[in-house]
Amino acid sequence: MRNLTVRIERNPSEGHDIHIGREILEAAALRLMSSGWGSRYVVLTDSRVGAVHGRQLMDLLRGTGARVDPVEIQPGEASKTVATALDIIRQLLSIEADRHTCLVALGGGVVGDLTGFVASIFMRGIPYVQFPTTLLAQVDSSIGGKTGVDLPEGKNLIGTFYQPKAVFMELSFLDTLPQEQMREGLAEVVKYGLIEDPELLSIVEARPDLCSRKDPDRLEEIVYRCALIKKRFVEMDERDQGVRRMLNFGHTIGHAIEAESSYEISHGEAVSIGMVAEARISLKLGHLSKGEVERIEGLLASLGLPVRVPHGLSTEGILAHMQRDKKRSGNTRPIVLLKRIGLPFLERDVPESCIRETLMELQS
Ligand code: GLY
Repeated sequence: MRNLTVRIERNPSEGHDIHIGREILEAAALRLMSSGWGSRYVVLTDSRVGAVHGRQLMDLLRGTGARVDPVEIQPGEASKTVATALDIIRQLLSIEADRHTCLVALGGGVVGDLTGFVASIFMRGIPYVQFPTTLLAQVDSSIGGKTGVDLPEGKNLIGTFYQPKAVFMELSFLDTLPQEQMREGLAEVVKYGLIEDPELLSIVEARPDLCSRKDPDRLEEIVYRCALIKKRFVEMDERDQGVRRMLNFGHTIGHAIEAESSYEISHGEAVSIGMVAEARISLKLGHLSKGEVERIEGLLASLGLPVRVPHGLSTEGILAHMQRDKKRSGNTRPIVLLKRIGLPFLERDVPESCIRETLMELQS
């Protein structure tokens, strides 16, 4: 098992460890038992993940003598709402959960974000830990304490920054992950390579069949490198005011594509198209070279990720969603661009004409 420590300068008591490895659930249960984070646990999961991994984790936790209750939600982004959060809170009240209850998020990004959100508001805040089960949640959403729910107006519009007590990344969870979900996670992996770790890009380039032929050692190395990068950005800028925004490479346009497709296009796919668009904008504004843009597009395509805006999504619709992006300030259009691979920067106001031209070029 490999361990990383996330240090939170604002409040050192919110610092916590990330544990990465195969067959680590038993050690995780023992760690929870000795931690004093809770006298009982509520495992929050979705019905799909719960059916595959729920019993094993709950049995291990019960084996430590603790009371463990399950709470299940429906799988999918549609569950990430205020209504689901209130429903979870009512279920917690009905089983008399209290401030000594520790929530356990077992699932992907939706479960992790919802669990963190509920933990941050239930009885003014109770502890929670993360057991991310998807590649995307392991390399991204389980780290950094961003919690939240969606509104019809947009994703994550209600939320908190609230750090977990620990993150346990059980790599064997990835063995049963469907290929589309592996692919989604690989989009974020490519992002880390592009903003910080060109060597990571080479690792992925050497094995574009990672979705279908899972290579445990390579996956461990990939998850570890991504977690290390994310934890460093979070340590430098927990509240997303500066350098953490570099993690948004591909996301400004990606989020708008996701919204314009009414979330039919998954987050990872949208980020893939967003990275292609933002790489092309970097080229147009005189930063990235043509060869680098071709390398990025080639890698994403070789992973089976989309590199064109799907037919039926309107450029004007995507631009309108970008206008509503919560990271905008005033009338400017800030986007993370690349000076070169491994060197991102925030361009504070990308001309709308440049974004429009790029999106039109990418219409399939
Ligand atoms: N997923 C981007 C962040 O956590 O800041």
